[in-house]
Parts: sequence; structure tokens; C-alpha cells
Amino acid sequence: MTTESTTRAVRVPGDKSISHRALICAALASGRSRVRHILQSADVHSTAGVLRALGVGIPPLGDDVRIDGRGLGALTAPTESLDCGNSGTTARLMSGVLGAHPFESRLVGDESLSRRPMARVSRPLGIMGARFSFEHGEHLPMVIHGGALQTIEWDSPTSSAQVKSAILFAGLVARVPVTINEPVRSRDHTERMLCALGVEVRSCGGQAVLTPAEALPAFQVDVPADPSSAAFMAALAAAGGVGNGDRLELTDVALNPTRLGFFRVLREMGADVVWEVEREECGEPVGTISVAPRVLNGVQIRAEQVPAMIDELPLLACLATRASGETEIRGAGELRVKESDRIAAVVQNLKAVGADAEELPDGLRVRGTAGSLGGRIVAHGDHRLAMAFGVLGALSGGSIEIDDRDCVAVSYPGFWADLARVTA
Ligand code: S3P
Repeated sequence: MTTESTTRAVRVPGDKSISHRALICAALASGRSRVRHILQSADVHSTAGVLRALGVGIPPLGDDVRIDGRGLGALTAPTESLDCGNSGTTARLMSGVLGAHPFESRLVGDESLSRRPMARVSRPLGIMGARFSFEHGEHLPMVIHGGALQTIEWDSPTSSAQVKSAILFAGLVARVPVTINEPVRSRDHTERMLCALGVEVRSCGGQAVLTPAEALPAFQVDVPADPSSAAFMAALAAAGGVGNGDRLELTDVALNPTRLGFFRVLREMGADVVWEVEREECGEPVGTISVAPRVLNGVQIRAEQVPAMIDELPLLACLATRASGETEIRGAGELRVKESDRIAAVVQNLKAVGADAEELPDGLRVRGTAGSLGGRIVAHGDHRLAMAFGVLGALSGGSIEIDDRDCVAVSYPGFWADLARVTA
């Protein structure tokens, strides 16, 4: 008897980047905003907690939250340190917001976040007029002395949506025009959300230009599913890891082109991947991604492709072990300053499970194998490493043990349950 392959559907949780921005914009808006399907993960709880400490009325996060905005520039001085947890997005986006408020605030984070570079935001915000002081290096803890800011045109050496958004929020709150130039356009959720709220933000290539607005109106947003979370399930489906070799439909996903690099590469590797836009939400295209298994080949990733798939590179490296031939990722030095040094950690872990992998200064090289892989991996508390190796474990036939499965709570708390359901 043969079982016919069918289609399964999954809606992964809300987009992390859009969730952070929805909270920040709602806090700065005049009146009560409504956010549905917000991602309820540790990182988003960090942003909500920081905003509450600045006087914003945010109830415990649920599927339908109402937020009482304080208006542009009207956050209140915190009485204690602002805890950003593991979240670089919280720390960097809030630096821009706080740099434009006339009080002092101190940002702290967990061990991983306290190792990540903050000069990339303190430098441009410092030129605008905010003052920063650090206790060691240019890392958290970081004290921001905000105030009146002046305009800036900033040439960012790296493509970073966190840096770009910090400057855009600083310009928005301080009501000064700002221009940011980056080598390749990074994810543009801040620009899209502000435009949808009536703020003039013009984007062209790697340039974003904000013209100040008087106020931000209250709004409603239904947060679409996160393409970075969907990527784990798509990789599984592409390599035949969905139960019965079924096709997988990932529904209600944010289909912003600056986030779809991994899906384009999956197609280049030979997978059957299609997506279709069904609606628009707060300036973001939203729709379904459909993936069916095929034989996969290795790929070459160049620097220009990196920003649109920066968070998916550990997953690509794991998937490359299941593809025929060699995969090389270059121009991805930014991976070394993520939640962990993702180049070193991915390569060490791939070797630990028996894969053929090699570290490069700005990337890595992996040669595919048909053999089973197994062993214990160290996630370094990095959610994306735990999930990438979780997918590899499901695909590899061997057994991959992960030291810290719970760290997935940073971006995708239900990951293990969804993985079990999809592979069954
Ligand atoms: C994010 C931007 C990216 C990404 C991170 C989320 C954002 O970081 O890696 O997960 O929401 O703006 P960088 O700006 O450091 O590239």
C-alpha cells in the first residue's frame, strides 16, 4: 500500500521585528492602538517591559492587546535600569527613542547582549546630540543622556535594520529630518510602518530619508507570521522532513522582499518553493509560502544576499549538510556579533555531529553528505542555533542532542511542539 502525499498547513507565530516596532510605534502614538497576533516571546516581552518602565500602558501581552500611547517625545523618565534581556532589537531601537528624550536612562541586558556592539548606535546618535556612557567597552550597561537632537546623514558601514531604525526613531521623536545610507537595504519594517502611519519616509536602494511629522496617529495592526520562523519549517519540508514527504503551506507570513532571501536560495538549491501575496498589513505584503521536497544542491552566498537572510544563515549551513556538493557563505562577518558568534558556533557544532564544515573569516563552507549525523550540540543560549540543529536532527536520521532547548523562547516558544507535529 502506498500513502499519497498531501498538503499540511502551519501558521508560525507573529513576526518578531514587526512586533517590536508595533509596540514602539503604539507607545509613541497619540491614543489607543490595537495589536493583534503579536509575537509573545521573550524578546518582545523585553520591549514591552522597557516601554512600561517609561510610562506606557501595556497590558500583559496576549493575542489582542490595546496600548495607550503617550505621544511623540512624552515618555517618562525611568526609575530603574531598563532590562533588554537577550534582545538586540530592544536595546538598539530604544536607544534611538531614548536619545531624543530629555532624561537619563540606563540599558542593561543578559550576558549575551552585554557582549554585543553598541557603538554602531551610540556613534550616529552621539553626532545627533545624545550623550552615551559605558561601564566597560562600548557594550551594555549603557547610560543614555537624551535631549534635543539635530539632523544627520549617516553612512552606515554595515547593513543593519537596528541601526537604521534607531536613527529613524531618533529623527521621528526629535522631529528632525534624518538620512541613512547602507551598503545593501536591510529589512525595512520601520520605514513601512511609519509610512503606513502617514510619516514621510522615502526609500531608494540602500537609502532611507525621514521627514519629521507632528504626531503619530493611533492604529490597528494584525501582525503577520514571521518568515524567519517559517524558514525552519520550510527547510524541513524542502528536504523531505515533513511526515509522509508532504508539501507544507506556511500561511499568513510577512512576505516583505527584504526578508525572503532564504526562500529564494532554497529555490536555487532545487526545492519547489512558491509564495503568493494575499493581503497587505501596515505596509507589509502578507501571504502563503508553499514548499515541497526535492533533491537539494549546494549554493554560493555572496555579501549582497546576506542582509535579506541574515538570521537564516545558521539554518542554511545545517541544511547544506543534506544537499549534494559544497555550500559557501561569504560576506557574512556580521554573524560573529549576533546572539553568539554564529560562524564559530555553527561550524563547531556541525563538526561535533560529524558534518564536513570549515570556518572562514567572513562565513563558512559545508560539504553535503548522505550519512547520518549525530552528537551533542552547544547552543550557547542562541535560539536560532537551537532551532537550526533541531531541524537538522529531524532530517539526519541520527540523534542530535541540544544542550539548551528552552532558549527557543526568545523568538518561537512553540517551536518544539510545531516541529513534532509537522514531522509526525
Ligand atoms: C532585526 C535586525 C537584524 C536581525 C535581528 C532583528 C530588526 O539585526 O538580525 O534579528 O528587527 O531590526 P541587525 O540590524 O543587527 O542586522
